[in-house]
Amino acid sequence: MSAIPTTFRVKSFGCQMNVYDGERMGELLSAEGMIAAPDGDDADLVVLNTCHIREKAADKAYSDVGRLTREDGSRPMIALAGCVAQAEGPEAKRRSKMIDLVVGPQAYHRLPEMIAAAARGERPVDTDMPAISKFDALPVRRRTGPSAFLTVQEGCDKFCTYCVVPYTRGAEISRPFADILTEAAVLVEGGAREITLLGQNVNAWTGGLDKLIRAIARIDGLERIRYTTSHPADMTPELIAAHGEVEQLMPYLHLPVQSGSNRILKAMNRSHSVDSYLRTIEQVRAARPDIAISGDFIVGFPGETDEDFTDTLAIVDAVGYASAYSFKYSPRPGTPAATMEGAVDPQVMDDRLQRLQARLAEHSLAFNRATIGKDTRILVDRKGRLPGQMIGKSPWLQSIFVTTDAVIGDMVDVNVTHALPNSLGGELTVQKVAA
Ligand code: 5AD
Ligand code: SF4
Repeated sequence: MSAIPTTFRVKSFGCQMNVYDGERMGELLSAEGMIAAPDGDDADLVVLNTCHIREKAADKAYSDVGRLTREDGSRPMIALAGCVAQAEGPEAKRRSKMIDLVVGPQAYHRLPEMIAAAARGERPVDTDMPAISKFDALPVRRRTGPSAFLTVQEGCDKFCTYCVVPYTRGAEISRPFADILTEAAVLVEGGAREITLLGQNVNAWTGGLDKLIRAIARIDGLERIRYTTSHPADMTPELIAAHGEVEQLMPYLHLPVQSGSNRILKAMNRSHSVDSYLRTIEQVRAARPDIAISGDFIVGFPGETDEDFTDTLAIVDAVGYASAYSFKYSPRPGTPAATMEGAVDPQVMDDRLQRLQARLAEHSLAFNRATIGKDTRILVDRKGRLPGQMIGKSPWLQSIFVTTDAVIGDMVDVNVTHALPNSLGGELTVQKVAA
């Protein structure tokens, strides 16, 4: 390795928090005078912003590193960032000789000096979780798309027994109210019409997420607010009430349950039961009847029996999820569940995942079908495959296809005409002209 790179690419994997971190790293590198390499072009520096939540994601990161060798045998400078970097630390350099620097999610404001060190042939590793927030050291944000992420909280103190997040992202920490408000205002000025507040436990934001939402809702030009991911234990009455009162807060709530069996929930150290979860959903629906509920599920947690799994299908039916993510349990080294007895047979796990996903798809389809005939508004966020076709998000976070000359960032009124489990079609609402 020799020269300081002049072009870079940041590739983010995993959750939206990583997408946000990836954007901030890109902004930081640009502020240093580096240029983002256009898609498909070679970059002098590649930052792999990795995810460690499941086993395959980490393996994928290492194979992605391997694939960065160019045809002529050369390769870019490679920075391993994100949660695999945090978890592996110096070990990452041993596992892949190609990695030039390792930087954790709380240390990436130090990227410029680390890149300089890597250019000198050092292989710096920084996985510190400094008390001084990286946010203070990052450049102010400028341009943005119509839909922007804003991290308000990081880390997790919940210690679910399967999860690496409390180890890779550290303890729960909330950003100050004023900083968040300033960043939100800058994002809106830079073109954002929607802001999604992010946190591993976003509703554990210490100042009361409802107050933050109400404050942000007063920013002129901001039309939509979302937040993710929330924990059932932190759904306060105030936050629930905000869903009924704040017009800009979109009718969508991602509220992971993981399992429908109290026995498994206990073994997972989730601080909710099936009943308390369902009660929360009931209250949220009382505040906002049309709300779309989304969730996360794990099948095959150690000791999960057929009966436990049947309970999971039952909670799926009881809630009627609009959308959901479901995963096979993956033991993460260092977590309590990794040493629990009762590993579930891989074939049984596969079968349960398939059955769960089939059931979830039925509910998504039912939810989407129920919007057929409705007039709604979408925020256009990308092009469709057909000429003239654009795709935008409904308030319920459905992707709706429509033929229009609108551009990305426009809000368009549509009538929903048909529905599939993962997408819907619509037509521009025809303005009624008085006779
Ligand atoms: N195995 C499988 N899924 C997991 N998740 C977190 N840790 C694991 C694991 N060890 C899932 C949970 C969480 C989502 C982000 O990832 O469902 O809500
Ligand atoms: Fe992981 Fe549980 Fe924390 Fe979510 S709440 S990040 S699943 S430990």
